[in-house]
Amino acid sequence: MRLFEPINIHGMELENRIIFPAVVSRLASEDGYVTEALKERVLRIATGGVGLIVLEAAGIMDRKSGTLLKIFDDRFIPGLQELAAEVHQKSKAKLGIQLVHFLKLSRSGYRQTVEELSQDDIKQVVEDFGAAALRVKKAGFDSLEVHCAHAYTLSSFLSLRNKRKDEYGRNLEGRTKIVKEVLAKVKAAVGEDFPVGCRLNGDEFILGGNTLQQSRQIADKLARWGIHYLSVSAGGKFEDGQVFEGIAWPYSGYSGTRTMPTKNMPDGVNVYLAEEIRKIVAPYGIPVATAGKIPTPEFAEAILEASRADLIALGRPLICDPDWPNKAKNFRWNEIVYCKYCGCCTDNDRNFEPVVCSQWPQGSLNAPADFAPRRKKES
Ligand SMILES: Cc1cc2nc3c(=O)[nH]c(=O)nc-3n(C[C@H](O)[C@H](O)[C@H](O)COP(=O)(O)O)c2cc1C
Repeated sequence: MRLFEPINIHGMELENRIIFPAVVSRLASEDGYVTEALKERVLRIATGGVGLIVLEAAGIMDRKSGTLLKIFDDRFIPGLQELAAEVHQKSKAKLGIQLVHFLKLSRSGYRQTVEELSQDDIKQVVEDFGAAALRVKKAGFDSLEVHCAHAYTLSSFLSLRNKRKDEYGRNLEGRTKIVKEVLAKVKAAVGEDFPVGCRLNGDEFILGGNTLQQSRQIADKLARWGIHYLSVSAGGKFEDGQVFEGIAWPYSGYSGTRTMPTKNMPDGVNVYLAEEIRKIVAPYGIPVATAGKIPTPEFAEAILEASRADLIALGRPLICDPDWPNKAKNFRWNEIVYCKYCGCCTDNDRNFEPVVCSQWPQGSLNAPADFAPRRKKES
């Protein structure tokens, strides 16, 4: 199967084409440190046969954000280092991490926008990405991913909805300028040999937002600026999100259902975005990951077979059954517990509760060791 063909991403050798994309677990501590529970979650997934884990979004700046992982200071390095060492010791999976910058949100309903940032604020964002990238390398990770998708700062700069009037807005050059600077800073920090990827929206799925028309052009620039892989996502915007207890939630509108396709949506609903972007970046030798309701090994295999993507990102399916890759590899497909896309894990995330699966025994923080589909009782 193509799914189990190795792939080399700028020196990072993956055993197979399956990646666990960044998925916030809400298992980090309130201060943003790695906890035992987070470590167990990551190890459970790593030992299930996945090729690459992109550790959940880690905040590069000091901002209150509940149980989100953080990496804005050297004091976060030891916890991350321990995690990376254990993943390497106990599995063949490679470990990356997603770096995120987000703007201020408050319960009063206030949401900071990119138009409000001064040029000094922008310089700080760039500096913070560089410093965080160096910490990733020091912690012994295999790669890092710059979060340029969904509701967060870099994505908001890239968006056609960015209405800045200075050189960080106005046109494509302006809207991409901060990302160009971030990538230069990150690459200077980690060195040319270290694999650096980006997550990018293929389409924002909001009125007046980026579509493939813009994301193709952005992808071409990212390739020229030397990224080593591109993970294509979609939507997840504040602009059409609802407000819960005063806080806007970017995954509650239609755009959010494109990030985490719901059960009433077709399988692989976003694959065409990766396929189109792949046509742009393949000539540069940059592999592309696709995500979004890719339920089964057959479905994943067909995507690779048709050269629509190079990597298959399985978020909810690997939360549900981390052994999905090992079972698929051994053709034990009927032993996989398939994700029902029921919305349980996304609700947990929104409610700041540990992200768990509705199919696990109640109270569990991980899939059981011998997790198997429930057999129907014989009558
Ligand atoms: C609970 C939860 C948290 C997520 N957190 C992140 C995140 O930190 N960064 C990110 O880029 N995507 C995040 N995502 C999106 C996933 O990486 C993935 O793209 C999406 O779930 C679609 O893939 P799937 O259908 O295989 O789950 C999250 C998804 C879920 C369900």
